[in-house]
Amino acid sequence: MLVLGVESSCDETGVALVEATGRETPRLLAHALHSQIDMHEAYGGVVPELASRDHIRRLVPLAREVLARAGRPLADADLIAYTRGPGLAGALLVGAGLACALAASLGKPVLGVHHLEGHLLSPFLSADPPEFPFVALLVSGGHTQLMRVDGVGRYETLGETIDDAAGEAFDKSAKLLGLGYPGGPQLARLAEFGDPTAFVLPRPLLHSGTLDFSFAGLKTAVLTQVKRLGGNVCEQDRANLAAATQEAIVEVLVKKSLAALRATALERLVVAGGVGANRLLRERLDEACRRRGVRVHYPELALCTDNGAMIAMAAAMRLQAGLARAGHDYAFDVKPRWPLEQA
Ligand code: KG4
Ligand code: ZN
Repeated sequence: MLVLGVESSCDETGVALVEATGRETPRLLAHALHSQIDMHEAYGGVVPELASRDHIRRLVPLAREVLARAGRPLADADLIAYTRGPGLAGALLVGAGLACALAASLGKPVLGVHHLEGHLLSPFLSADPPEFPFVALLVSGGHTQLMRVDGVGRYETLGETIDDAAGEAFDKSAKLLGLGYPGGPQLARLAEFGDPTAFVLPRPLLHSGTLDFSFAGLKTAVLTQVKRLGGNVCEQDRANLAAATQEAIVEVLVKKSLAALRATALERLVVAGGVGANRLLRERLDEACRRRGVRVHYPELALCTDNGAMIAMAAAMRLQAGLARAGHDYAFDVKPRWPLEQA
C-alpha cells in the first residue's frame, strides 16, 4: 500500500511517499520539504496568511518531486493523507484541499492525520525504531507533553505545559537576545560559546511533583536579565544568557522525562518534535537514560521538525492498526485545535 502524505500545518510544506506491506513497519520511499523560515524571518515569526499562500505555491511541485524521486506515478497511491490539525487554519486548509482534490481525481480514499501523532510516530522511520509501550516526550514550537504510548492510537497524557511550549521558550528567549526566527537552533548555536552558570534562571515546576511544565516564567527571567544589563549587552553576556536558558529548559525536560519513566515503570523513551533536534537535550537524555538502562529513540535529525514523511507514516500505521476510517468523502474540514487523545 502506497501512502502519499501532505503536511502544511505551519511554516514547512512537506510531501512524502511511504510504502506499507502487511504488518511490517512502513518504509519511506521519498520525501521533499520546503521551509518558509527565510520568508517569515523578516517578521520575527510566522505570518499565517503568507504561510497559506506559500503552501499553495509549493505543494504541487513538491508532490511531483516526491513521485519522481520514488519513480512512481500518482495513480499508484492507494491513500492520500494530510495534516487535519492542530495548526494554522488557513495553512491546514491548503494541504487538506490539495489532498482531497488529488484523492477525488484518482477516486482513492483520503485520511486526515493528527500532526502530533505524526511527530510521535516519526521515530519509526529511523534506522532504530522503538517498540511499544514507551514514554514520549513531545517538544515542539506549539506543544510540550509527556505521553504514555501503548500502541498506535493508545495515548495517555501524563503531563503538559500550562503556558508556553519548550520551543516557544527557546524562540521567545532568542528574540530577547536579538536572535532571528526560529530562535531554537540559533540560541543553541550561541549557547556553545557561553557559560551556563553565569546567570541563575528558574526551573519552573521542577519540584511540583507533577509531570506538568511551565516556561512562561523563564522567558520573563531572561527579559529581567536583559533589562538589568541595560542597552549594551556584550557578546559574552548574550552567549552566557543563551547557555543558561538552554540549560534551564533542558534540565526541566530531562528531569520530568525521568520522572515519567519512573511513574510508568516503562524502560523506553521516545523524543519527538522540533526541540528534539537540540544537541544538549540529546546528550543529557542519552547520559541519564544510559545510567538507568532506558532506551532512547529519536527521529532522524531531518525528520525532527515538521515534514510530510511523519504524516504519511502515521496514516499508514493507523490503517495497519485498523484504526483509520479512510473515506471517499472529499468534503474536508480541519481542526486548528485538537487534543491528541481525541485523534
Ligand atoms: O515540531 P516543529 O518543527 O514545529 C511545531 O510543530 O511546532 O518545532 C519547531 C520548534 C521551534 O520552536 C524551534 O525553535 C524548535 O522547534 N527547534 C529547536 C531546535 N531546532 C528546532 N529548539 C532547540 N534546539 C534546536 N536545535
Ligand atoms: Zn510540528
